[in-house]
Amino acid sequence: MARSRVLLALFAIYAHAHEAPAPAHSDKCTLAASGTDDSPAIERAFRACADVLVPDTENLLIGTRLNTTGLARVHIRLRGNLTLKPDVDYWRDNAFNVSYQDNSAAWLFGGRDVVLDGEGVGTIDGNGQTFYDARIENASLRPPHLMLAYQGDNVIIRNLKIRQSPRWTILVHSSKNLLIHDLDIRSRSNTWALGRESNRETDGPNATHIYVSNLWCNGTHGVSVGSLGENVGVKDIVANVYVNNVTIRNSENGARIVFSNFWHENNDSPITIDNCYKTDPDVCLAHPSDMTISNVYFTNQHGTASGKYGNIGAALVCSERKCTDIYLNNVNVTAPTECGPTVYTNHHVNVQGNAAYQFAADAPTYGAGGINPDNTTVGGVTCQGGQVLL
Ligand SMILES: *[C@@H]1O[C@H](CO)[C@@H](O)[C@H](O)[C@H]1NC(C)=O
Ligand SMILES: *[C@@H]1O[C@H](CO)[C@@H](O)[C@H](O)[C@H]1NC(C)=O
Ligand SMILES: *[C@@H]1O[C@H](CO)[C@@H](O)[C@H](O)[C@H]1NC(C)=O
Ligand SMILES: *[C@@H]1O[C@H](CO)[C@@H](O)[C@H](O)[C@H]1NC(C)=O
Ligand SMILES: *[C@@H]1O[C@H](CO)[C@@H](O)[C@H](O)[C@H]1NC(C)=O
Ligand SMILES: *[C@@H]1O[C@H](CO)[C@@H](O)[C@H](O)[C@H]1NC(C)=O
Ligand SMILES: *[C@@H]1O[C@H](CO)[C@@H](O)[C@H](O)[C@H]1NC(C)=O
Ligand SMILES: *[C@@H]1O[C@H](CO)[C@@H](O)[C@H](O)[C@H]1NC(C)=O
Ligand SMILES: *[C@@H]1O[C@H](CO)[C@@H](O)[C@H](O)[C@H]1NC(C)=O
Repeated sequence: MARSRVLLALFAIYAHAHEAPAPAHSDKCTLAASGTDDSPAIERAFRACADVLVPDTENLLIGTRLNTTGLARVHIRLRGNLTLKPDVDYWRDNAFNVSYQDNSAAWLFGGRDVVLDGEGVGTIDGNGQTFYDARIENASLRPPHLMLAYQGDNVIIRNLKIRQSPRWTILVHSSKNLLIHDLDIRSRSNTWALGRESNRETDGPNATHIYVSNLWCNGTHGVSVGSLGENVGVKDIVANVYVNNVTIRNSENGARIVFSNFWHENNDSPITIDNCYKTDPDVCLAHPSDMTISNVYFTNQHGTASGKYGNIGAALVCSERKCTDIYLNNVNVTAPTECGPTVYTNHHVNVQGNAAYQFAADAPTYGAGGINPDNTTVGGVTCQGGQVLL
């Protein structure tokens, strides 16, 4: 079954999340590092207290899987740190299974009227390097996602630094009215095992009214909405997702949905729609994707592509008649000059908006499969691929 990404209805943009009303329970709790696993204390405090403070001086260990779903009216001030225990075997056997892409998560976070605020200083450290290294030894290993925002309603996650996620950073699942903003997300592997594939910001099966803004990311998968429709017979709903003002550097993908005010720097696929995501092109041809993609807006997209896909600055690829109402406005993303003149290409997409004229249907591209069948390395920049995936 072809996997698909990106589904959006953007006409109404709502961000319903707002500050939690005065709490029903009034306890104020302050957490301190115990020197050993702090997960039980974190869970207890999040559930029992209205105000939770992790002071600047504290570094709490998420030593066992952390289930903080079903919270009610809690305001968490994470000024110190939460650090994931770098124990590959433990997380392999104990992370929460996520009924989505056969994945798992170390931390489930959700509930009603919940604020998680790093106040510009709090850090969540995923200790990713240990997991990246383990993946070199065993490529079938699936490290856990750092956080699953799960069954949330009116949840705010803000002003946080997130470092070295073992895999994706925040996966949004079955949540609504979620506001994620002012996150500074960085991951860097000093090995090449997992690369940027491992690390992604937000993604969303059954996610509605999600507002994401002011992200700064380096070395990530980018912001995605999708991998929808991959479980046969399971319905995924993603609606009213709004992503604004995002800087993404050194990423595999830049934007994959709605998206305004993006600065791209050295991203492999800065602007992408692909309704047959990560599926063999021949399989896609034989079994066109059923995923319908409509009402997607890319507005104010600037910056650079890495050259990984040759001279492609933007690629919109759909099965026939599956993508409608795709708007691109104010787009200037350039591939390295070594790769030849930048092209914006589309396959079965009727592009609208003031950048439409820049998108040539099945534009000739450089790199494997394109005008230039060979990978070329010029001035240290490797221009490869360049083929339009179908
Ligand atoms: C929290 O993490 C940041 C960034 O890694 C670090 O600078 C800071 O010292 C850490 N704080 C504590 C209390 O460990
Ligand atoms: C997480 O905790 C909630 C509240 O105790 C519980 O209802 C739920 O089953 C737990 N989830 C998992 C996956 O253990
Ligand atoms: C997650 O699923 C795997 C494979 O189905 C299973 O072996 C493992 O025990 C499950 N983990 C948990 C924590 O339930
Ligand atoms: C590699 O990881 C997979 C998934 O966790 C596991 O089933 C398998 O036994 C591991 N292989 C080795 C050689 O450790
Ligand atoms: C956009 O996000 C950046 C962080 O990457 C932030 O510094 C800046 O203030 C934001 N701009 C607006 C208009 O909110
Ligand atoms: C961003 O990531 C690149 C590649 O991993 C690294 O060389 C660079 O130092 C990072 N930049 C910042 C500001 O973190
Ligand atoms: C999404 O919600 C629908 C309807 O509530 C449900 O049937 C489906 O199982 C959910 N999908 C996922 C991936 O949780
Ligand atoms: C796009 O950006 C490049 C590099 O900043 C600039 O040279 C070029 O003139 C811009 N093109 C348009 C159409 O704005
Ligand atoms: C270009 O490089 C990619 C990645 O290294 C490789 O998979 C592909 O086979 C190369 N193509 C040619 C024509 O050499």
